Amino acid sequence: MFHIREFREEDVYDVFVISAQSLTEMYSLELFIDIHLAWPSGFLVAVTSEIVGFIAGAKMNGTARILMLAVAPQQRRKGIGSTLLRRFIHNARQEGLRSVSLEVRTGNKRAIEFYQKHGFQIVSMLNNYYTNGDSAYVMWKNI
Ligand SMILES: CC(C)(COP(=O)(O)OP(=O)(O)OC[C@H]1O[C@@H](n2cnc3c(N)ncnc32)[C@H](O)[C@@H]1OP(=O)(O)O)[C@@H](O)C(=O)NCCC(=O)NCCS
Repeated sequence: MFHIREFREEDVYDVFVISAQSLTEMYSLELFIDIHLAWPSGFLVAVTSEIVGFIAGAKMNGTARILMLAVAPQQRRKGIGSTLLRRFIHNARQEGLRSVSLEVRTGNKRAIEFYQKHGFQIVSMLNNYYTNGDSAYVMWKNI
């Protein structure tokens, strides 16, 4: 079993480790703290006896933008990513936001299927978006 709660500053190293295992871009510890401070209820962690996943977003022009979402590799396909996403959307709605957007690597079929299952649609493509030159799809959902 797991539960969802807001990120706390003492979680930063655990979140950093999951991000390094799961995401291709590298992010600094300071960046996680900055994202949390900018929108505390937009940065959530999933916890068992330890942190097993997180979602982090930012508010931009009335849209909640998902900056990162990752579940520890051995904890996937258990509904953790879905629960994080649903709670994030709930919190965004509570704050009056009416859409969610994100960028995903065009080759990340697993994540694209995951987001499509949650009602997101591909709305555009950004060439050369990531530091290694990969392109991104922009995905969008009204909430
Ligand atoms: C994408 C990610 C967050 C999904 O988390 P998760 O906890 O495994 O997702 P869930 O268990 O809630 O999956 C929900 C549904 O999404 C779809 N899905 C999830 N992983 C999938 C995969 N590997 N292949 C195809 N569909 C998948 C399925 O429809 C799944 O439902 P099901 O298990 O009943 O078939 C996780 O795979 C991850 O951390 N990936 C690496 C980081 C990443 O790519 N992040 C997104 C880009 S920012």
